[in-house]
Amino acid sequence: MRIGVLTGGGDCPGLNAVIRGVVRKGVQDYGYDFIGFRDGWRGPLEADTVQLDIPAVRGILPRGGTILGSSRTNPLKAENGIRRIKENLSKLEVDALITIGGEDTLGVAARLADEYGIACVGVPKTIDNDLSATDYTFGFDTAVNIATEAIDRLHTTAESHMRVLVVEVMGRHAGWIALHSGLAGGANAILIPEQRFDLAQVCSWVESRFKIRYAPIVVIAEGAMPKDGDMVLKDGSQDSFGHVRLSGVGEWLAKQIEDRTGQEARTTVLGHVQRGGTPSAFDRWLATRFGLHAIEAVRDGDFGKMVALQGTDIVRVPIADATAKLKTVDPKLYAEADVFFG
Ligand code: F6P
Repeated sequence: MRIGVLTGGGDCPGLNAVIRGVVRKGVQDYGYDFIGFRDGWRGPLEADTVQLDIPAVRGILPRGGTILGSSRTNPLKAENGIRRIKENLSKLEVDALITIGGEDTLGVAARLADEYGIACVGVPKTIDNDLSATDYTFGFDTAVNIATEAIDRLHTTAESHMRVLVVEVMGRHAGWIALHSGLAGGANAILIPEQRFDLAQVCSWVESRFKIRYAPIVVIAEGAMPKDGDMVLKDGSQDSFGHVRLSGVGEWLAKQIEDRTGQEARTTVLGHVQRGGTPSAFDRWLATRFGLHAIEAVRDGDFGKMVALQGTDIVRVPIADATAKLKTVDPKLYAEADVFFG
């Protein structure tokens, strides 16, 4: 049996741990052969491959990024995309594909498996933690730790200058990173995409903090939007990769706070720092287990399925279940943080 492996979409810490888990178990326990595909779906589309064997995965467990490279190529949008993938897989004698990705990459895998009979098994990844059917995606814990450390550091500089520090974290559609790091870092306001925020309310939280001589930290997810219709997206346009470009909601908010409260404000945009570097112990553990279970799914011929964490168990769910609807922050969970605002 020969198995192709690809990593698609935005990278995240733990991808290499999955690849290592897949290859180690596949070779050692079942004698399978592997082929790495470069740059997500571009690999099988263009038959661009890389050697993937035990020596290739040696030492990669703690390394961020992905040894296979990644891209946001969508074969469903490429000319004759499906036909080319099928031809290349058969030419390379690949019997099954392990696709490690987020909503877009797995959405393609679900369609290839369900509609075109291509043997795909999915592994969920995203720092955003917004995939349904799994309690956590790997990469999220690392991103939350990085953001929390940043917030801790920003507290001391904010206090020294008695300034407002706005921290913009990733999360276009879901506020998981903002909520978890904001709670862990003791933020005085946490603003998430799921709930439009009231600017006047945020300013009053900021002011009440200054009254007791504390400098406030406001954590905002990049996709958060104000209630009163002020548009913070530049124009809602998409870049050439199909991404809606956000205009820097953190900068916008700091300016509004300064104008309305008269307090000095600064913004820190954490950006891709949240996606880089070595994975946390939790993410290495989860990613490794996902890899081991993905190989089991291939061995069982259980295609069109994705491995998922439910409680402490790794289970298999239809890939389509994970991608049909994003997992956003439950309003009840968000409301728990209320007590710390202001
Ligand atoms: O989906 C993961 C993510 O990191 C989002 O949080 C972020 O908005 C986006 O990817 C950034 O994508 P890119 O690396 O293409 O700019």
